[in-house]
Parts: sequence; C-alpha cells; structure tokens
Amino acid sequence: MWTKQDLQQLVQRQIGEYRLIIVSNRQPYIYNLVEGTLRYVLPAGGLTSALDPLMQACGGTWIAYGGGQGDRYVVDQDNRVMVPPDDPAYALRLVWLTEQEEKGYYYGFSNEALWPLCHNAYTEPVFDLRDWETYQAVNQKFADLVLDEVGDQPALVLTQDYHLALLPQYIRNAAPDIVTGQFWHIPWPHPEIFRICPWQAELLEGLLGNNLLGFHIGDHCNNFMDTAARTLPVQVNAEYNRIEYRGDTTLVRPFPISIDFDDICQFSESAEVEQEMERLQEEWGLDGKLIGLGIDRVDYTKGIPHRFRAIGRFLEKYPEYQGKLVFVQAGVLSRSDIDAYQQLSEQIDQLLEEINGRFARNGWQPIVYMPDNLPAVTLMALRRLSRFCIVSSLHDGMNLVAKEFVASRFDNDGVLILSPFTGAALELTQSLIVNPYATEDMAEAIRDAVTMPEHERRNRMLHMRATVRENNIYKWAARLLVDLIQCARGSASGRSRYAATPTR
Ligand code: G6P
Repeated sequence: MWTKQDLQQLVQRQIGEYRLIIVSNRQPYIYNLVEGTLRYVLPAGGLTSALDPLMQACGGTWIAYGGGQGDRYVVDQDNRVMVPPDDPAYALRLVWLTEQEEKGYYYGFSNEALWPLCHNAYTEPVFDLRDWETYQAVNQKFADLVLDEVGDQPALVLTQDYHLALLPQYIRNAAPDIVTGQFWHIPWPHPEIFRICPWQAELLEGLLGNNLLGFHIGDHCNNFMDTAARTLPVQVNAEYNRIEYRGDTTLVRPFPISIDFDDICQFSESAEVEQEMERLQEEWGLDGKLIGLGIDRVDYTKGIPHRFRAIGRFLEKYPEYQGKLVFVQAGVLSRSDIDAYQQLSEQIDQLLEEINGRFARNGWQPIVYMPDNLPAVTLMALRRLSRFCIVSSLHDGMNLVAKEFVASRFDNDGVLILSPFTGAALELTQSLIVNPYATEDMAEAIRDAVTMPEHERRNRMLHMRATVRENNIYKWAARLLVDLIQCARGSASGRSRYAATPTR
C-alpha cells in the first residue's frame, strides 16, 4: 500500500533537479475575514482535497486564483503564503482576478460552457464570445505567473481541470523545455457532443500543449483521442495512447483519483467523532432511526432530485418505513450566481415540500436538507451513523464522496448505493449500482440497503475498503508523477516517451 512516506521517497529519488508546480483555479486554503479576524476554510470538491496531501508530501508551489476576502492580508510581496496554515509544507501563490474576469472565465466559459458540455446531464452549454475571450486572457494570466515562478529552472508543471485548458500551450510556446502535465477532473464527452463547442479546435490545441494528459478512466481517454482525431490533423497511436501533433507528443492515460484512506479512517475512529454522533442522535432526533445519507456540492450533475424522488417512491411502496427512515442530505451551495444552479435549488425546495409535506407526521419528516457547509466532524459522524449512502450522479469523472464513505466505515458496515455513471462504479463493484434515472430501481436499491443482512453488508464493505485502501491518493500521485518524470526524461534525451508503473 502506498503511503505519504513512500511518495516522498519516490519524489526525492526521481524528481532530480525539477521543481513541481501545480496550477488550478481553486485554491486549497481560502482565507476569509470573519468579524475582523482572519480564518481559513477548505473548499468543497474533490480536486483540492485530493491534491493537498500530494503537495504536503512533495513540497513545491501551488498557483491558484485568490478568491477569499482575507487572501491579500496573508501573502508576501510575491503573493505567496506557506500552507497548510497549521503545518506549512508548500507555497501557495495566488493570481488575482477582477470581477469581470471572474465572471467571464469562471462563471461564464468554465461553468456555463465547459462544465455542462463535459457532463451528460442535459443542461445546455452557453457559448458566449466575450466569455471565451476572457477565458483566453485569464489562461494567459495564469501562464505568465507560472513562467515567473519557474524562472530558468527545470520544472514539472501539473495543471488541473477544465478552467485552464489553454495554459499548457501558452507555456509550451513561451518555454518549450518546461514539462507539462494536466489532469482533467471531469468526464471527457463523446466527440459527437464535444463538437458543438465553437472553439473545440482551440481547446484541443491547448490541451495538446501537454506532455501528459490524464483522465479518471479509459473511456474518457478514448473519447479525448477520438475527439482530437476528428478535429485536428493529429496522428493517434491508440496502442500506446499517444497523440502526435505538430512534432510533439501527448501521452493520454487514465489515473483514477482517490483519497487519503488512512487519514479519513483515523479521523472517523476519533473520540471527537463519537461525541458528535451522540450529539446528533440527541439534538437531531436520529436515535433509533434508520439513516440514509447524501453529501454533495449542490450541482445539477449530482442527481439530488432523482434521489429525493426515489426516497418518496420507497416510502410509498414500503409504508412500514414511514416514521422510521430519515434521509439526511448535506450540501455545499456552489456557483449560485449561475441560472442553472438557482433553478436546481428551486427544484430541490419544491421536491422537499412535496415529499416532506406528503409523509411527515408527529415531528418526523423523511428528508432533512442541510445545504450549509457542515463541519467535517458532523459529516464524519453522519457517515458513521448511516445505514446507507446514496451517490446518484448523472455523470461524474470519479466521485470521491463514495470513496470517503467507504474509508470512514472502519466498522465494516453501511451500504453504498452508487450511480453507474461515476468513475467510482468501476472500482466499487460491491456497491449497489443503480441508474438514478430509474426511480423504481432506486427505490428497490434503498429497500435492499435497509433489509440487507449484516454479514452481506460486512462482506461488501470489506471488499470495497480493501480496494480503496490499496488504490489510495498516494498511488494515484505516484503513477502520475512517474509518468510525468518519464516524459521529462524522454524530452531531455529526445527518446520516445514511455510510461511506466512506479516501483518503491
Ligand atoms: C469539481 C471540479 C473542481 C472544482 C470543484 C468545486 O470537483 O472538478 O475543479 O474545484 O468541483 O467547484 P468550484 O467551482 O467551487 O471550484
């Protein structure tokens, strides 16, 4: 099993004179001003939670957009601050954006065009020329800061996600010796879908500025290679997952992202979590109830209305559970300035009114909705108290909520109900895999979860825990870094690049 120490040793042995630089839109620690006092919070979403342990193990610089009102008070003259705040291990360097830049690049092109384009969730992308122009300008702004950070030292630049698709090409044009990798945290759609984007060729050219391009699963690599082959004069070597374009090679590989299994497991066993479980049982009236759980960013790709409908159908079909089952939906409100997210919130409120209104009685209601960024200890206590957790994404690159639920169940209990449209479903095969669009099947999966005998729950959970423990975040990072280092060696010697499996 890969540990933080193994990863550190791998980096010390193999990275040589290269510096590691991570670039993402979202920062791993956000400083806010609360009543005149600086406080930091951790953002929601898998990207930052997965990469922070990697940076803590390897050191280096993380470049990101400074979106907190307190950020400017903590940085030095180069806009740098050491993090984690309580035990500094790496530098965070912040890019400032104007309101107009944030609107066009983040809310606009990233989240109203690329996000719906890449997720099969039937929300129509908005392609606005001004947003596209701002997206280009902001990608250039990030690239300039990366070039400043690198100076003339050898560097590995690992870019994250769909906000920065053009950055690798900008870097390659300015400094071809920098080794560039990118991990795309969301799905890559079928070429038939991607081709509706008016700037598909430019986006592909941007991404082909990478030496290495990673997706969660093989299907998304194949979709990307097919899209490139249909759009640009590239040569695709499907056997070795390579794309040749204008004399450069991009290696395209799957790296299923994961979590720090041991860390989550230890936290879930702590006395702090035990106390919180007692508090919730008393104060939220959960004692003696069968608890179901959902934890999500409030996003239309997560299938939250679909799971609420399934809870309603379950209670209708199996009335003996009325008064007994409580489904807790924890959430973090996200991207709320965008219409599609406001519509989702309205839809959720309507469904809650309908389902709770229909079944509630004597102080009991079936769905408790908490869209208010609950503290980590409360979320952990909820995971431990739950009989089942539902992850019903309509489309999801991986979904780390599913893996976090498994890691937190050191008691080998609890059932995971999981959408087949997540990357996680390929690994967590002992979950109850069910189509979120099929309300009847979802209701039956809930019934299976609440009636499943203890020995079966245990066997399934043991199996899933072994999988997540083995394929943890350190293994993900090691595989990615080894491939990137191989790319660096390949470029340095002019030999063809070759992808290897890491050895300890
Ligand atoms: C997804 C994306 C990340 C993003 C996260 C949270 O996981 O892949 O890039 O950071 O959502 O979304 P936000 O818009 O708040 O950064």
